[in-house]
Amino acid sequence: MSRIFLIGFMGCGKTTLGRKLAARLGYTFYDLDHLLEEQAGMSVAEYFSSFGETAFRLAEAEILKNTAYGEKAVISTGGGLPCFFDNMDWMKAHGITFYIKLSPKILASRLAHGKEERPLLRDKHGDELIAFIADKLAERESFYEQAQVIAEGLSLTAEKVEELVLNRNL
Ligand code: S3P
Repeated sequence: MSRIFLIGFMGCGKTTLGRKLAARLGYTFYDLDHLLEEQAGMSVAEYFSSFGETAFRLAEAEILKNTAYGEKAVISTGGGLPCFFDNMDWMKAHGITFYIKLSPKILASRLAHGKEERPLLRDKHGDELIAFIADKLAERESFYEQAQVIAEGLSLTAEKVEELVLNRNL
């Protein structure tokens, strides 16, 4: 179980859980959005507005496939990443994919304050935000559901993620 890819919608907790999981296991933590920001020298929001979503999808796929992960890595991915190109298959071939699953309502409440830096959400509010998340999630779920491990995200802890990943390997 040397590489664990955390996937799921924006706001599901990939980065927070990933950081804790990596610390717990003594693995290196990689946040792909953060790597893209470092390499591009700008935020994801700036990248979207300068180059558009298509360029962003190509760049995030490049980073996914060209990062030199060590043998022991926890990788937090952007919410859209598993749904483009062959990214989902690539992650499954190079590690274990773990889907953190949450309902649109919970995601919307978690994202209400963290949406300014997320270009797909920043102009949406209230019911419109929930409806947008529900539609996008419905579109993306068939990709997310291909993960080798799927867990309800509401009370998920790093300990639980570790246990589920270990059980998967038995
Ligand atoms: C996106 C999710 C974001 C970021 C970009 C697009 C998406 O990552 O990659 O804003 O399409 O769901 P997080 O899931 O880390 O917010």
